[in-house]
Amino acid sequence: MVNKEIMMMKKGGNIDYEYLSTVVRDKVNDIPPSGVRGQLTVVGAGPGDPDLITLKAIKAIKSANVILYDALINIDLLKYASSEAEIIFVGKRKGCYLYQQEQINELIVSRAKSNGHVVRLKGGDPFVFGCGSEEIDYVQQFGIKTQMVPGISSALAVPAYQGIPLTKRGVSESFWVITGTTKSHKLSQDVVLAAKSTATVVILMGMGKLDEIVNVFLRENKQDTPVAIIQSGTTENEKFGIGTIETISQMVAEKQLSSPAIIVIGEVVKERVRLDSVCEAIIHKTVSV
Ligand SMILES: C[S@@+](CC[C@H](N)C(=O)[O-])C[C@H]1O[C@@H](n2cnc3c(N)ncnc32)[C@H](O)[C@@H]1O
Repeated sequence: MVNKEIMMMKKGGNIDYEYLSTVVRDKVNDIPPSGVRGQLTVVGAGPGDPDLITLKAIKAIKSANVILYDALINIDLLKYASSEAEIIFVGKRKGCYLYQQEQINELIVSRAKSNGHVVRLKGGDPFVFGCGSEEIDYVQQFGIKTQMVPGISSALAVPAYQGIPLTKRGVSESFWVITGTTKSHKLSQDVVLAAKSTATVVILMGMGKLDEIVNVFLRENKQDTPVAIIQSGTTENEKFGIGTIETISQMVAEKQLSSPAIIVIGEVVKERVRLDSVCEAIIHKTVSV
């Protein structure tokens, strides 16, 4: 029954979330407690370059009976899945979520109980703005075994692939990683605190709030502070722009940069080193494991 609903969604039919939620809940309640004791492994897929995944993550993908994956993962990674595995996309498509978080939680429980090992494959690191801990919290109430495989976060890897060190002796002693958009859709107030410091500021999910971010730094007289923006970092679609707090909005408009992107603010942007080999390594020379 659940399969049929998912097929419907894949064919682009209208989704009746309320009905789907009821179907999934019924399915969960149908399973006797003595049934398969399921397992959930929340796995970090890395920032985009398929080589930036851990061996442990690949082992988890190989052993999964079901894989629920998000939009920001590189789908090349699904080649590690068993041909028997059920693979379900639960991310955003055309700006809309196919599943609400509650529905994903219920799907994990129902599949873990009916199929065994569920891998929840998420972009970057699942515990960095990834809801990984919320999903673990939820499924543990159902006696499902849980594991976590960390991933390389885009917050670190995306600037690194552009040669930007987040810290450098004599330049920056620390960095903040902040969400541009909180649960209430507002700019995190931590950006205001970070702008007062000398730390490097890395902002995820911040493109829709770029003007607000610029204003926060202008209030601290930081108009000359360097800024880099990297869209779809570590992938073949990577786009990059550099400027200062004063010029960054214009640069974004000229280069038509948009989400998903990382904003790096701080003197380290000037310390960027030239890298020759990274781009070549992306996509084209994926190492087979
Ligand atoms: C919901 S957060 C997930 C972060 C993820 N857990 C991580 O550790 O990278 C999604 C945001 O991460 C950033 N992001 C993820 N992958 C990216 C990439 N390859 N290039 C640029 N930004 C990326 C963007 O700011 C995007 O809006």
